[in-house]
Amino acid sequence: MVDFTGIERVRELVTRKGTAAFIEELAGEIATDYRRWPEFDKSPRHAVHSPVGVIELMPISDGRLYSFKYVNGHPKNTAAGLLTVTAFGVLADVDTGYPLLLSELTLTTALRTAAMSALAARWMARRDSRVMALIGNGAQSEFQSIAFHHLLGIRELRLYDVDLAATTKLERNLAALRLPGLDVVRCASAAEAARGADIVTTVTADKCNAVILTPDMIEPGMHLNAVGGDCPGKTELHADILRRPDARVVVEYEPQSRVEGEVQQMPADFPVIEFAEVLAGRAAGRVHDREVTIFDSVGFALEDFSALRYVHRLHREQSGSRATIDIVPQLGNPKDLFALLAERPATVRAASHLRVSA
Ligand SMILES: NC(=O)c1ccc[n+]([C@@H]2O[C@H](COP(=O)([O-])OP(=O)(O)OC[C@H]3O[C@@H](n4cnc5c(N)ncnc54)[C@H](O)[C@@H]3O)[C@@H](O)[C@H]2O)c1
Repeated sequence: MVDFTGIERVRELVTRKGTAAFIEELAGEIATDYRRWPEFDKSPRHAVHSPVGVIELMPISDGRLYSFKYVNGHPKNTAAGLLTVTAFGVLADVDTGYPLLLSELTLTTALRTAAMSALAARWMARRDSRVMALIGNGAQSEFQSIAFHHLLGIRELRLYDVDLAATTKLERNLAALRLPGLDVVRCASAAEAARGADIVTTVTADKCNAVILTPDMIEPGMHLNAVGGDCPGKTELHADILRRPDARVVVEYEPQSRVEGEVQQMPADFPVIEFAEVLAGRAAGRVHDREVTIFDSVGFALEDFSALRYVHRLHREQSGSRATIDIVPQLGNPKDLFALLAERPATVRAASHLRVSA
């Protein structure tokens, strides 16, 4: 039997710990893995595009564990009552090739993306950052809000979305959370939200070269956390922002980001810094207070590897609905796979496909 963490189990693990604490611990796991960057067998994700979306596979291994995530991105889905992004994934043992965990990753992707954004901002944003503009108030936005409030000390959030109902939903959820000392300000445009902000997070969804931020909105010293542009032909920043002489651009994994990130708009020799270089101390996340730092986030497989391992550990350690799922046969004789199809008593045939032990 393979361990199974569905939506309900992940919800249980997160609420038991508290969302902010979960994101903080996950950010620690991600940082630990980025610090051992050379140990990973890495590749850009494999994407299958359609006119309305993308389905991607994201594999990675450190030689002991292997993971992959299946994830989609369909910005028009919400109009049909469906999520823009859903995901699930597997953590496996490299020595046997056997899966150890099958997990939901929709909720977990939002948590790990927020953890990664906050982790990058810790190395790139000015230490005195207190005001963040949050442009795009959909499914990811509460997670980003909690992470930046808890890990960066953001005390004013300036919200903007073209969909007024999305902002109303975010306001309502943030009010219910009662994050200490946080002021939430609703803005009438992206420019109004960005004005005077220390950090600008863009987390919008549109399958086009959108221009959420234009050069006139950028102030010296800002940190841009550009999350929503993560596919060929799907960007959020005007290219002239990247061209600023005072801009410093950090990416997760250069071969993937060149194709999917904001830097797809730039020539192949445009300078970027991999985040692992910053963590290793070989490159700076920020050199001075007037630099414009840009975390060109697309989401890399290592972050899901860290998340799957972390969720698996919590699932193993904690009580509750500890489910397993029968996606690998258990055989007395491993050469006798056909035994599964041989005539068996009805009671055996009716055995549950999903086992839950409290
Ligand atoms: N970088 C990463 O690691 C990562 C991880 C997860 C999701 N994403 C991306 O983040 C984006 C947001 O994901 P989500 O799950 O929150 O999607 P969502 O559809 O729930 O929310 C997106 C929001 O963006 C708003 N929006 C669209 N165009 C806008 C514009 N021009 N100005 C202001 N708001 C605008 C929409 O109205 C919507 O409310 C997606 O593009 C997704 O692919 C990136």
